[in-house]
Amino acid sequence: MKIHKVCIIGGTGFVGHHLIPKLANAGIACRIPARRPHRYRSLEVQQGCELTMLENLEVESLKHHFDGCDAVINLLGILNESSNCSFEEIHVEAPKKIMEAAQQSGVKRLLHMSALNADETDGVSNYLKSKGKGENLMLVQNSGAVRVTTFRPSVIFGDNDSFMNRFAQLLMIPGPLPLACADAKFSPVYVGDVTAAFLKTLSDASTFGKSYELCGPRTLTLREIVEYIAQIKGTHKNVIALGDAMSRLQAKILGVMPGKPFTMDNYNSLQQPSVCTHNGLQQLGITATDMDAIVPRMFG
Ligand SMILES: NC(=O)c1ccc[n+]([C@@H]2O[C@H](COP(=O)([O-])OP(=O)(O)OC[C@H]3O[C@@H](n4cnc5c(N)ncnc54)[C@H](OP(=O)(O)O)[C@@H]3O)[C@@H](O)[C@H]2O)c1
Repeated sequence: MKIHKVCIIGGTGFVGHHLIPKLANAGIACRIPARRPHRYRSLEVQQGCELTMLENLEVESLKHHFDGCDAVINLLGILNESSNCSFEEIHVEAPKKIMEAAQQSGVKRLLHMSALNADETDGVSNYLKSKGKGENLMLVQNSGAVRVTTFRPSVIFGDNDSFMNRFAQLLMIPGPLPLACADAKFSPVYVGDVTAAFLKTLSDASTFGKSYELCGPRTLTLREIVEYIAQIKGTHKNVIALGDAMSRLQAKILGVMPGKPFTMDNYNSLQQPSVCTHNGLQQLGITATDMDAIVPRMFG
């Protein structure tokens, strides 16, 4: 399957910003529908990339954006619900409509971003349940018409990520850092490896209908990650690991603050280790990049 042009939904986020230059370097043109295209004009410097106005996530509108594209990549995602945007809308309804629009537009290939531990029935949070439901409906529609591959990353790190940068900012606030769910486990995966997996699978027929977990080479607790960032920044910080009751309390308080920095649903997601059973990077022949190779450059 030769791919000349892809449409990326959710391409204006962190992963999209790393994926688009990689696609452009591989000679693949990108169309990036965006709610606020004026904010992301810098993406258009990439060879063959165009931003279009995303009016809504309805099938008719999506079909218009998919016109002339060989593949669609879905990177849509939210960590928290808001008054005008639910997990069901973004993680379930939108994928359903993206698939329908792809089928009607004659798009032959679809890559879909899920998350590690996403599970429609047994997900430990509403985020993970909705991600699992969306992923299942994509995989079940994998057919001769549209060939699907899904990805299930642990937390992703790299320039301009929201995870490590957020803790790097919190470390700059004077005083001790009270840390909820300090024992939560992650295998942080480098965004460059995630985008390499997308590139590698895009036209590889052996990956059709498959799902790939994506993890980095190390498993660390949240506390270890925060202390690692502190060490790189040369900050001496007293990290106070909150017990379960205090972690819940923090989630309840921060969950009603503007921007919802930490919610009960986030707390629930952190109750399950975000660790791979079978690392898809290995299956795809990609060597997982260690944090030591990237993070010191981000914060050093
Ligand atoms: N980053 C991680 O550590 C991580 C880990 C596991 C899974 N994932 C998954 O990987 C994917 C990409 O993650 P990311 O870190 O790049 O996310 P991100 O930076 O938050 O980007 C999310 C994208 O979704 C778009 N979006 C959100 N709500 C929308 C809405 N109501 N209508 C239209 N567009 C909307 C955003 O558009 P705007 O730019 O207009 O806001 C943006 O393009 C997501 O599916 C995420 O769940 C990420």
